[in-house]
Amino acid sequence: MEWAELVTHAWWTFAFRWLHVIFGIMWIGHLWYFNFTQTPTMPKIPQELRPGVARYILPEALWWFRWGAMMTIISGLILAWMEGKLVGVITLGLNATPHVASYASLGIGMWLGAIMWANVWFIIWPNQKKNMGLVQVTPEERTRAARIAGLASRVNTMLSIPMLYGMTSVHFY
Ligand code: HEM
Repeated sequence: MEWAELVTHAWWTFAFRWLHVIFGIMWIGHLWYFNFTQTPTMPKIPQELRPGVARYILPEALWWFRWGAMMTIISGLILAWMEGKLVGVITLGLNATPHVASYASLGIGMWLGAIMWANVWFIIWPNQKKNMGLVQVTPEERTRAARIAGLASRVNTMLSIPMLYGMTSVHFY
């Protein structure tokens, strides 16, 4: 078989699905690392060792985390468009006749993912910049920023469970 015959629309859709899941793991993997490993362990780490996490691990992990989120939403939207259902899922299947259950379910997953992406870029990252000292603020503002970033991160961890239900539910409906 010729190479050109193999690289069909179905192949490209598959490639984007594969990339999308890889980026999704890059993002949610770091989110779960923060919430299940780093944050709960911090109080147990001796004071003098904590800067190692805050100065070296946190900035690096946040880089993969936020760009993972960006690539996940971009690849996800492209995937929906390639499958010809972008508008259908964004409108939760309400404009389709008959209403498609899988569109509603995937659409809810996509909206939850979009809320989580906005949380990363507009709440967690700006507040982490203050927390890590990339933006100069008073000590009170720094404590407040760390708390806001932590809360938004916890919300995203909770949202990730129903979000992934919506993402994978296309195989059920
Ligand atoms: C941020 C916004 C997101 C959008 C717009 C989006 C979009 C999509 C779309 C359109 C599909 C294809 C569903 C179908 O087969 O029709 C999909 C599947 C999937 N997405 Fe997402 N997604 C997002 C976030 C995520 C995240 C954060 C993850 C985390 C790992 C994820 C993991 C998956 C998985 C595992 C599938 C199923 C692949 C399969 O069924 O083979 N998605 N997503």
